[in-house]
Amino acid sequence: AALAGVVEYRNVTFAYPGAESPVLSNISFTARPGQTIAIIGSTGAGKTSLLSLLPRLYDPAEGQVLLDGVPVDRLDRAEITKRVALVPQRPYLFSGSIGHNLRFGKTEATDQELWDALRVAQGESFVREKKNGLDSRISQGGTNVSGGQRQRLCIARALVTKPRVYLFDDSFSALDVATDARLRAALKRTTSDATVIIVAQRISTITEADQILVLDNGRIVDRGTHEELLETSPTYQEIVES
Ligand code: CTP
Ligand code: MG
Repeated sequence: AALAGVVEYRNVTFAYPGAESPVLSNISFTARPGQTIAIIGSTGAGKTSLLSLLPRLYDPAEGQVLLDGVPVDRLDRAEITKRVALVPQRPYLFSGSIGHNLRFGKTEATDQELWDALRVAQGESFVREKKNGLDSRISQGGTNVSGGQRQRLCIARALVTKPRVYLFDDSFSALDVATDARLRAALKRTTSDATVIIVAQRISTITEADQILVLDNGRIVDRGTHEELLETSPTYQEIVES
């Protein structure tokens, strides 16, 4: 199908403009619809940089990033945005109503669609508790909501666009373990045919991933399921124990 949502990184090497050494070296993996791929690694390992290449915030120096078999530099940015939702590590809310913020990527979304997305993102109750619901005001930068509420609103914003591919950059870190687990279970139900790539800090967030990529210093040093990596990857064991 033309809109399947298969993501492939093929021997990707990337350096930031003006930098001497690459932050990503020879990255290859495939993420298919229905799969969850997790990326784990220490701070500065290159996780955010890796995600940024799919929506073309940057283009790699070498290798290719493909979406449904097509190199993304041959796709229109608007077309990529329609298919790929990136929930950034520091998600941004702007001054305006909650509804306005949630409709950022899809202005024609109905209130019902917003509530459905909020329910999955575990954000329904705190929005319902506000006197003005979806019309409640968010201040510039989202300073009048908590970090966890902001993350949930930004996850809901991504759900509203109904993309084929979700990129979650450390999107669950500000949530308590129970909310994190509920949110991911709900996500799994509603996004069961989408491609999901999750960057995470907490092991519990990713133990059920179909494949975990262990990133170290810009390279994939190990890959496998949680159980496989516990057996085979010293780097993964270190992360688990930390
Ligand atoms: N970097 C850079 N220019 C940027 C962003 C990042 O030179 N605009 C560098 C960082 O200094 C780091 C490397 O690229 O050495 C990887 O950064 P990043 O991909 O952001 O690392 P993460 O694995 O996402 O780190 P964290 O867990 O802290 O989010
Ligand atoms: Mg990061």
